[in-house]
Amino acid sequence: MIPHQFTQLHCSAFAKTKKEVCFPEGELVFITEDRLDDALSMPRQCFIDDEPMGKSIGVQFTEEFKLYWLTTFRQGLSFMLVNPTNGDIMGFRGICTALKEDKEEVNQIKDASLRKIFSILGLLVKEADFFGRYDIEECFHFFGLGVAKQYRKRGIAKRLMEAGIVFLRNLDVDPVYIKSEGTSNFSQKTFEQLGFETLAEIKYEEYEVDGEVVFKNTGEHKSVKAYGMKTSKA
Ligand SMILES: CC(C)(COP(=O)(O)OP(=O)(O)OC[C@H]1O[C@@H](n2cnc3c(N)ncnc32)[C@H](O)[C@@H]1OP(=O)(O)O)[C@@H](O)C(=O)NCCC(=O)NCCS
Repeated sequence: MIPHQFTQLHCSAFAKTKKEVCFPEGELVFITEDRLDDALSMPRQCFIDDEPMGKSIGVQFTEEFKLYWLTTFRQGLSFMLVNPTNGDIMGFRGICTALKEDKEEVNQIKDASLRKIFSILGLLVKEADFFGRYDIEECFHFFGLGVAKQYRKRGIAKRLMEAGIVFLRNLDVDPVYIKSEGTSNFSQKTFEQLGFETLAEIKYEEYEVDGEVVFKNTGEHKSVKAYGMKTSKA
Protein backbone atom coordinates (compact mmCIF):
# COMPACT_ATOMS: atom_id res chain seq x y z
CA MET A 1 0.00 0.00 0.00
CA ILE A 2 1.22 3.48 -0.86
CA PRO A 3 1.33 5.79 2.20
CA HIS A 4 -1.01 8.70 1.38
CA GLN A 5 -0.09 10.90 4.27
CA PHE A 6 3.23 12.50 4.94
CA THR A 7 4.84 10.61 7.83
CA GLN A 8 8.16 10.18 9.56
CA LEU A 9 8.69 7.28 7.17
CA HIS A 10 9.08 9.76 4.28
CA CYS A 11 11.77 11.65 6.19
CA SER A 12 13.77 8.56 7.08
CA ALA A 13 13.43 7.16 3.54
CA PHE A 14 14.68 10.48 2.18
CA ALA A 15 17.60 10.66 4.65
CA LYS A 16 18.62 7.14 3.58
CA THR A 17 18.36 8.12 -0.11
CA LYS A 18 20.68 11.10 0.42
CA LYS A 19 23.34 8.69 1.64
CA GLU A 20 22.80 6.30 -1.24
CA VAL A 21 22.78 8.67 -4.24
CA CYS A 22 25.70 11.04 -4.47
CA PHE A 23 25.29 14.75 -5.32
CA PRO A 24 28.68 16.39 -4.67
CA GLU A 25 27.55 19.62 -6.37
CA GLY A 26 24.54 20.35 -4.17
CA GLU A 27 22.21 19.41 -1.36
CA LEU A 28 19.18 17.26 -1.97
CA VAL A 29 16.23 18.90 -0.18
CA PHE A 30 12.84 17.37 0.48
CA ILE A 31 9.85 19.54 -0.53
CA THR A 32 7.79 19.90 2.60
CA GLU A 33 4.85 22.29 3.18
CA ASP A 34 7.15 25.12 4.38
CA ARG A 35 9.15 24.95 1.13
CA LEU A 36 6.23 25.16 -1.29
CA ASP A 37 6.97 28.77 -2.28
CA ASP A 38 10.52 27.86 -3.31
CA ALA A 39 9.23 24.75 -5.00
CA LEU A 40 6.76 26.71 -7.12
CA SER A 41 9.60 28.71 -8.65
CA MET A 42 11.13 25.49 -10.00
CA PRO A 43 8.88 24.87 -13.02
CA ARG A 44 9.64 28.40 -14.24
CA GLN A 45 13.36 28.22 -13.53
CA CYS A 46 14.06 24.70 -14.68
CA PHE A 47 11.26 23.37 -16.86
CA ILE A 48 8.74 25.44 -18.80
CA ASP A 49 11.05 27.37 -21.14
CA ASP A 50 12.68 24.23 -22.56
CA GLU A 51 10.30 21.31 -22.13
CA PRO A 52 9.73 20.42 -25.82
CA MET A 53 5.91 20.22 -25.96
CA GLY A 54 5.24 23.30 -23.83
CA LYS A 55 7.95 25.26 -25.63
CA SER A 56 6.53 24.43 -29.04
CA ILE A 57 3.12 25.92 -28.17
CA GLY A 58 4.31 28.63 -25.77
CA VAL A 59 2.80 27.31 -22.54
CA GLN A 60 2.63 29.86 -19.71
CA PHE A 61 2.81 29.43 -15.95
CA THR A 62 -0.87 30.23 -15.42
CA GLU A 63 -2.69 29.84 -12.09
CA GLU A 64 -4.24 26.71 -13.53
CA PHE A 65 -0.84 25.20 -14.39
CA LYS A 66 0.50 26.26 -11.00
CA LEU A 67 -2.21 24.19 -9.36
CA TYR A 68 -0.94 20.98 -11.03
CA TRP A 69 2.49 21.57 -9.57
CA LEU A 70 1.13 22.53 -6.17
CA THR A 71 -0.96 19.36 -6.03
CA THR A 72 2.11 17.30 -6.87
CA PHE A 73 4.49 18.99 -4.44
CA ARG A 74 1.90 18.93 -1.61
CA GLN A 75 2.01 15.14 -1.59
CA GLY A 76 5.42 15.30 0.08
CA LEU A 77 7.24 12.99 -2.33
CA SER A 78 9.16 15.50 -4.47
CA PHE A 79 12.61 16.93 -3.92
CA MET A 80 15.03 19.50 -5.31
CA LEU A 81 18.77 19.98 -5.55
CA VAL A 82 20.06 23.23 -4.03
CA ASN A 83 23.45 24.85 -4.58
CA PRO A 84 24.77 25.48 -1.04
CA THR A 85 27.05 28.32 -2.13
CA ASN A 86 24.43 30.61 -3.72
CA GLY A 87 21.06 29.02 -2.87
CA ASP A 88 20.21 28.31 -6.54
CA ILE A 89 17.67 25.59 -7.17
CA MET A 90 19.68 23.40 -9.54
CA GLY A 91 16.98 20.90 -10.43
CA PHE A 92 13.98 18.97 -9.18
CA ARG A 93 12.22 15.62 -9.37
CA GLY A 94 8.41 15.86 -9.04
CA ILE A 95 6.70 12.75 -7.69
CA CYS A 96 3.06 12.12 -6.90
CA THR A 97 0.71 9.15 -6.74
CA ALA A 98 -1.82 8.07 -9.34
CA LEU A 99 -4.91 5.87 -9.19
CA LYS A 100 -6.35 3.68 -11.93
CA GLU A 101 -9.67 5.49 -11.45
CA ASP A 102 -8.14 8.98 -11.91
CA LYS A 103 -9.60 10.78 -14.92
CA GLU A 104 -8.23 13.96 -16.44
CA GLU A 105 -11.22 16.03 -17.55
CA VAL A 106 -9.41 17.63 -20.47
CA ASN A 107 -12.43 19.61 -21.66
CA GLN A 108 -12.60 21.39 -18.34
CA ILE A 109 -9.05 22.76 -18.64
CA LYS A 110 -9.43 26.48 -19.38
CA ASP A 111 -5.92 27.18 -20.68
CA ALA A 112 -5.75 26.18 -24.38
CA SER A 113 -2.04 25.24 -24.30
CA LEU A 114 -2.48 23.06 -21.24
CA ARG A 115 -5.48 21.43 -22.88
CA LYS A 116 -3.30 20.50 -25.87
CA ILE A 117 -0.66 18.97 -23.62
CA PHE A 118 -3.10 16.99 -21.51
CA SER A 119 -4.93 15.80 -24.62
CA ILE A 120 -1.86 14.13 -26.14
CA LEU A 121 -0.87 12.78 -22.72
CA GLY A 122 -4.36 11.34 -22.29
CA LEU A 123 -4.07 9.52 -25.61
CA LEU A 124 -0.61 8.25 -24.73
CA VAL A 125 -1.68 7.01 -21.30
CA LYS A 126 -4.64 5.20 -22.85
CA GLU A 127 -2.36 3.44 -25.33
CA ALA A 128 0.12 2.54 -22.62
CA ASP A 129 -2.57 0.96 -20.38
CA PHE A 130 -0.15 1.09 -17.46
CA PHE A 131 -2.60 -0.11 -14.79
CA GLY A 132 -3.95 -2.96 -16.93
CA ARG A 133 -0.49 -4.08 -17.94
CA TYR A 134 0.72 -4.38 -14.36
CA ASP A 135 -2.73 -5.29 -12.99
CA ILE A 136 -2.65 -2.68 -10.22
CA GLU A 137 -4.94 0.04 -8.84
CA GLU A 138 -2.39 2.66 -7.76
CA CYS A 139 1.19 3.65 -8.40
CA PHE A 140 3.73 6.44 -8.14
CA HIS A 141 3.96 9.00 -10.94
CA PHE A 142 7.14 10.83 -11.90
CA PHE A 143 5.62 14.20 -12.85
CA GLY A 144 8.02 16.96 -13.85
CA LEU A 145 11.79 16.76 -14.07
CA GLY A 146 13.88 19.84 -14.66
CA VAL A 147 17.44 21.10 -14.32
CA ALA A 148 18.27 24.82 -14.46
CA LYS A 149 20.01 25.81 -17.71
CA GLN A 150 23.38 26.60 -16.14
CA TYR A 151 23.60 23.17 -14.47
CA ARG A 152 22.62 20.94 -17.38
CA LYS A 153 24.68 18.18 -19.04
CA ARG A 154 26.44 17.18 -15.81
CA GLY A 155 24.37 14.08 -15.08
CA ILE A 156 22.11 15.84 -12.56
CA ALA A 157 18.81 14.76 -14.19
CA LYS A 158 19.99 11.18 -14.30
CA ARG A 159 20.86 11.19 -10.61
CA LEU A 160 17.60 12.97 -9.67
CA MET A 161 15.73 10.23 -11.49
CA GLU A 162 17.84 7.54 -9.77
CA ALA A 163 17.24 9.21 -6.39
CA GLY A 164 13.49 9.11 -7.11
CA ILE A 165 13.58 5.36 -7.63
CA VAL A 166 15.77 4.76 -4.57
CA PHE A 167 13.55 7.00 -2.40
CA LEU A 168 10.38 5.12 -3.37
CA ARG A 169 12.06 1.78 -2.67
CA ASN A 170 13.10 3.12 0.74
CA LEU A 171 9.46 3.93 1.57
CA ASP A 172 8.82 0.28 2.36
CA VAL A 173 6.38 -0.21 -0.49
CA ASP A 174 7.17 -3.45 -2.25
CA PRO A 175 7.04 -3.79 -5.18
CA VAL A 176 7.18 -0.20 -6.35
CA TYR A 177 5.32 0.69 -9.56
CA ILE A 178 6.22 3.93 -11.33
CA LYS A 179 4.58 5.49 -14.36
CA SER A 180 5.86 8.49 -16.27
CA GLU A 181 6.00 10.32 -19.57
CA GLY A 182 9.13 11.53 -21.32
CA THR A 183 8.77 14.43 -23.74
CA SER A 184 12.45 15.14 -24.39
CA ASN A 185 15.19 13.01 -25.97
CA PHE A 186 17.34 13.63 -22.94
CA SER A 187 14.86 12.45 -20.33
CA GLN A 188 13.88 9.50 -22.57
CA LYS A 189 17.49 8.40 -22.76
CA THR A 190 17.68 8.44 -18.98
CA PHE A 191 14.40 6.58 -18.44
CA GLU A 192 15.64 3.85 -20.75
CA GLN A 193 19.12 3.69 -19.22
CA LEU A 194 17.56 3.26 -15.77
CA GLY A 195 15.45 0.31 -16.89
CA PHE A 196 12.00 1.82 -17.50
CA GLU A 197 9.92 -0.06 -20.02
CA THR A 198 8.60 1.94 -23.02
CA LEU A 199 4.84 1.34 -23.08
CA ALA A 200 3.69 3.71 -25.86
CA GLU A 201 5.01 6.44 -28.14
CA ILE A 202 3.39 9.24 -30.16
CA LYS A 203 5.51 11.04 -32.73
CA TYR A 204 5.00 14.81 -32.67
CA GLU A 205 4.87 15.07 -36.47
CA GLU A 206 2.09 12.46 -36.62
CA TYR A 207 -0.11 13.95 -33.90
CA GLU A 208 -2.75 16.12 -35.54
CA VAL A 209 -5.93 17.77 -34.32
CA ASP A 210 -8.40 19.00 -36.97
CA GLY A 211 -5.86 18.11 -39.66
CA GLU A 212 -3.07 20.18 -38.14
CA VAL A 213 0.14 19.10 -36.43
CA VAL A 214 -0.09 20.45 -32.87
CA PHE A 215 3.52 20.31 -31.66
CA LYS A 216 5.68 21.85 -34.39
CA ASN A 217 9.32 22.86 -34.21
CA THR A 218 10.24 20.47 -31.42
CA GLY A 219 13.77 20.31 -32.86
CA GLU A 220 15.65 17.13 -32.10
CA HIS A 221 12.83 15.95 -29.79
CA LYS A 222 10.64 13.74 -31.96
CA SER A 223 8.12 12.03 -29.72
CA VAL A 224 6.50 11.65 -26.33
CA LYS A 225 6.82 8.25 -24.67
CA ALA A 226 5.00 6.55 -21.81
CA TYR A 227 7.13 4.58 -19.38
CA GLY A 228 6.54 2.03 -16.67
CA MET A 229 8.69 0.35 -14.05
CA LYS A 230 8.12 -2.37 -11.49
CA THR A 231 10.95 -2.55 -9.01
CA SER A 232 11.62 -4.34 -5.74
CA LYS A 233 13.98 -3.86 -2.83
CA ALA A 234 15.79 -7.15 -3.31
C1 LIG B 1 15.84 17.13 -19.76
C2 LIG B 1 16.73 17.72 -18.68
C3 LIG B 1 16.05 17.53 -17.31
C4 LIG B 1 18.08 16.98 -18.68
O1 LIG B 1 18.86 17.48 -17.61
P1 LIG B 1 20.44 17.26 -17.52
O2 LIG B 1 20.85 17.35 -16.10
O3 LIG B 1 21.10 18.14 -18.49
O4 LIG B 1 20.56 15.73 -18.02
P2 LIG B 1 21.78 14.75 -17.80
O5 LIG B 1 23.06 15.56 -17.73
O6 LIG B 1 21.49 13.85 -16.66
O7 LIG B 1 21.76 13.97 -19.16
C5 LIG B 1 20.89 12.90 -19.44
C6 LIG B 1 21.27 12.34 -20.80
O8 LIG B 1 20.86 13.25 -21.83
C7 LIG B 1 21.98 13.72 -22.56
N1 LIG B 1 21.83 15.15 -22.79
C8 LIG B 1 21.40 16.06 -21.89
N2 LIG B 1 21.38 17.29 -22.47
C9 LIG B 1 21.82 17.12 -23.73
C10 LIG B 1 21.99 18.00 -24.84
N3 LIG B 1 21.72 19.31 -24.74
N4 LIG B 1 22.43 17.48 -26.01
C11 LIG B 1 22.68 16.16 -26.14
N5 LIG B 1 22.53 15.26 -25.13
C12 LIG B 1 22.09 15.75 -23.94
C13 LIG B 1 23.19 13.45 -21.70
O9 LIG B 1 24.36 13.29 -22.46
C14 LIG B 1 22.77 12.18 -20.98
O10 LIG B 1 22.99 11.02 -21.76
P3 LIG B 1 24.22 10.01 -21.41
O11 LIG B 1 23.89 9.46 -20.05
O12 LIG B 1 24.16 8.98 -22.49
O13 LIG B 1 25.44 10.85 -21.41
C15 LIG B 1 17.01 19.24 -18.94
O14 LIG B 1 17.47 19.40 -20.25
C16 LIG B 1 15.77 20.11 -18.73
O15 LIG B 1 15.47 20.53 -17.62
N6 LIG B 1 15.02 20.40 -19.82
C17 LIG B 1 13.79 21.20 -19.73
C18 LIG B 1 12.65 20.44 -19.04
C19 LIG B 1 12.42 19.08 -19.66
O16 LIG B 1 12.42 18.90 -20.87
N7 LIG B 1 12.22 18.08 -18.78
C20 LIG B 1 11.98 16.70 -19.19
C21 LIG B 1 10.57 16.51 -19.58
S1 LIG B 1 10.11 14.79 -19.56
